[in-house]
Amino acid sequence: MAGFIVEKRGVEKPVVPADFTHALCTGETGSGKTSGFMLPNIEERIVRGHGIFAVDFKGNLHAQIKSLAQKHGRLRDVVEIGTPWGEGVNLLEGTNRTLFSRMLDGIVNEEKRDFWHASAVALGLHVYDILTAMEDVAEIFAEAGVEGVEPPYRLDLPNMGRILQQASSLEGFLRRCRLFLQEECYEVVTKLPPFARGAFRQAREGAEEHLEFIRSFVKDIDESSPAAGSGGVLFSLRQLVQAMSDGAVSGSGDLMEYLEDGKIVVIRSDAFSDMLTRVFMQMLFTRLSRRLSHTPVTLFVDEFQRVVGSDNLPHVDVFREKRVELIAAVQNIRQLENRVGERVCDEFLGNILHRYEFANHLENDLERFEYRVGRTVKLAKPVFLTEYELDAAQYAWQKIWDRNVELPGKWVYLQADRSRRCFVKNMESGEVRPHFFVEMRYRVAAEEKREEHGEKVKERQEREEKIFFD
Ligand SMILES: Nc1ncnc2c1ncn2[C@@H]1O[C@H](COP(=O)(O)OP(=O)(O)OP(=O)(O)O)[C@@H](O)[C@H]1O
Ligand SMILES: [Mg+2]
Repeated sequence: MAGFIVEKRGVEKPVVPADFTHALCTGETGSGKTSGFMLPNIEERIVRGHGIFAVDFKGNLHAQIKSLAQKHGRLRDVVEIGTPWGEGVNLLEGTNRTLFSRMLDGIVNEEKRDFWHASAVALGLHVYDILTAMEDVAEIFAEAGVEGVEPPYRLDLPNMGRILQQASSLEGFLRRCRLFLQEECYEVVTKLPPFARGAFRQAREGAEEHLEFIRSFVKDIDESSPAAGSGGVLFSLRQLVQAMSDGAVSGSGDLMEYLEDGKIVVIRSDAFSDMLTRVFMQMLFTRLSRRLSHTPVTLFVDEFQRVVGSDNLPHVDVFREKRVELIAAVQNIRQLENRVGERVCDEFLGNILHRYEFANHLENDLERFEYRVGRTVKLAKPVFLTEYELDAAQYAWQKIWDRNVELPGKWVYLQADRSRRCFVKNMESGEVRPHFFVEMRYRVAAEEKREEHGEKVKERQEREEKIFFD
């Protein structure tokens, strides 16, 4: 290998310098990117205590991360997003209107961004502005110490979905907001100090303009042809919001808060569309570039090309100032070029200072993988975990979060199937079977039913005994 310095003095882990200048690993399938590069770096950053965000496309990375976290006593810090037994997050938390409109764009393919789409986004922004204005109002009152002013709707996707259900729900929304802003707030407005009163008036007047738009929009909806005109716009927007509120991602958690707390967050992208993953990443990239705190955060994205598009490559130069690093892998650069375009790709790669190239060499055995960094060829020692280690970590993680209630015996959750159905695996026998995941709030009801039933059985027995002995 002319021109390359081959260092084969021993095998080591290709640990990326923690200087926030980012790393990209390339290599064909089976060359050792995941086991020889990603996992050793994930482990190193776990030990360092960085906030970690990792995307799991194949549904197998989460358990490997849990196992590494367990090894270093940090299993409790693993947060899983995107499964019924994991945590849900509010995608709209910490967004602004620009980001929200970009997210609505991101959830459809570029060629589908037509007139209906543009009108739907415009309507969406009016609703968004009203919801944020009401949250602002509630905050203004809360900060002034005036209690009991609660916004009638929270800014989240499920609420938006409910508001946009049909013409009548949109009308109901309009009425409810006016009641809040014009009556409920006015009853206590005199309790506000003058400055806060100004802030309130400002927020209220802003909201009124948008409410006026909603009023004339609702009036335009022709109930007899719901797919045309305003009805069609409402329909399009509802579709967009539904696509974003897909299944188990939705909840009340704040992703940024987890990362600032140094948690190890894994998103199970095996459960939903690439489009939603991209929207999710867009939200994350934007919020990270704007953040004010400086807890070190590392993003691990294997198959990086799947999460980006020409308009949502992260600004990694800004990331450095924010102490956020990206550690990514692709099979080859072409994959990335195809997604974002050659010019954008070049520009992006210019800001990625550490490059690691893996390849299937004859010399590779499962003890070591050859890789190239700069002009040096080295050998990486892979992190391999056995199926038992992975299951054991998953089991222990489930136990910490009390997710085993419904699964007596050594069962682990494997993957979500359709809404509440999933597959579970017995870690002793290896048996895999479908299982209905029951949320905590329904479980309590089930327990009560069981108790109730138990009481009835007891009563009957007592009665029978009485009859028998009498
Ligand atoms: N836990 C394990 N035990 C034994 N061998 C493994 C284990 N995990 C992976 N391997 C093997 O190690 C090699 C490298 O696998 P790895 O998953 O790291 O490749 P990769 O570059 O990430 O591939 P891909 O692009 O398909 O994700 C493969 O031959 C694979 O079969
Ligand atoms: Mg891999």
